[in-house]
Amino acid sequence: MRVTIFGATGLLGKALLQEWKKDDILGLGSKDADIRDAGAVRAAVERTQPEWIVNAAAYTDVDGCESNRELAFAVNCQGAANITAAAKAAGARLISLSTDYVFDGRGSAPYETTSPRAPRSVYGHSKAQAEERIAEILPTACIVRTSWLFGVGGKCFPDTILKMAAKRPWLDVVDDQRGSPTHAPDLARAIVQLCRRGATGIVHVTNDGECSWFEFAREIVSAAGLNACIRPTTSEKFVRPAERPKYSVLSRSSREHYGVAMPHWREALRDYLSARREWQG
Ligand SMILES: NC(=O)c1ccc[n+]([C@@H]2O[C@H](COP(=O)([O-])OP(=O)(O)OC[C@H]3O[C@@H](n4cnc5c(N)ncnc54)[C@H](OP(=O)(O)O)[C@@H]3O)[C@@H](O)[C@H]2O)c1
Repeated sequence: MRVTIFGATGLLGKALLQEWKKDDILGLGSKDADIRDAGAVRAAVERTQPEWIVNAAAYTDVDGCESNRELAFAVNCQGAANITAAAKAAGARLISLSTDYVFDGRGSAPYETTSPRAPRSVYGHSKAQAEERIAEILPTACIVRTSWLFGVGGKCFPDTILKMAAKRPWLDVVDDQRGSPTHAPDLARAIVQLCRRGATGIVHVTNDGECSWFEFAREIVSAAGLNACIRPTTSEKFVRPAERPKYSVLSRSSREHYGVAMPHWREALRDYLSARREWQG
């Protein structure tokens, strides 16, 4: 199988390159093809002749999107549409990544793939609109929604907590936002399986289980053997430019339909910590 990955220099992209074995994989970053440029995307697809395309490219700075609306839509929505149109023209299958931010976060039970989109941030709007464009252009495309992505070699929540906990005796972390952390290598392996199983439509893929950011931080510090005290706080005390969903757990039934199993986030965190130790040498 020949696969072209857009966003291969990002957190998920790097994990995809690492995990995807036995196939002919080609990874592209923004220097290889700017996805805002339809011609550049088409040329990259014509050059690489993929059977599958994975779109892991995005403008993922959620707060940055609030002040750079045009850029958010150009990359996350038009970029995704450009990749989808190129996939269609080349007769390639597509998996495009999306996010829990397409929901309003006001639920209290896991979001199904059929739950209505109601984004509350520019980032969420740009990704929600992308999902609609992708489905219009290529109805057989697969949209993989994930959440709270973390992994070695990129900026992520566990890395930030570990760095801060090494320097400070205590940290305040919000306890009123719940979701499911997702380890990039686990997501990458799930994406490989979804490709092999010819997935179409929306599929939710996160690690099993749920927690608040406070609970996640407490587990990170304890599993790493650090002494910093993690204290619960609220979103009101931690205001940021983009509204965060209060509850964004994604139902696992769509991935189970494709026989994709994911480890619990606690197990994934332990894998991350040992990979991080190895990476740091
Ligand atoms: N991070 C999360 O917590 C999270 C949660 C839910 C969903 N997701 C989704 O998961 C996917 C992967 O996220 P990630 O965290 O791995 O992203 P990331 O680490 O921020 O990487 C973003 C990637 O997109 C590429 N990119 C950005 N602008 C581009 C452009 N104009 N043209 C071409 N490539 C461009 C970057 O390329 P260069 O580095 O070469 O510039 C990089 O490879 C995204 O769709 C994201 O929305 C992420």
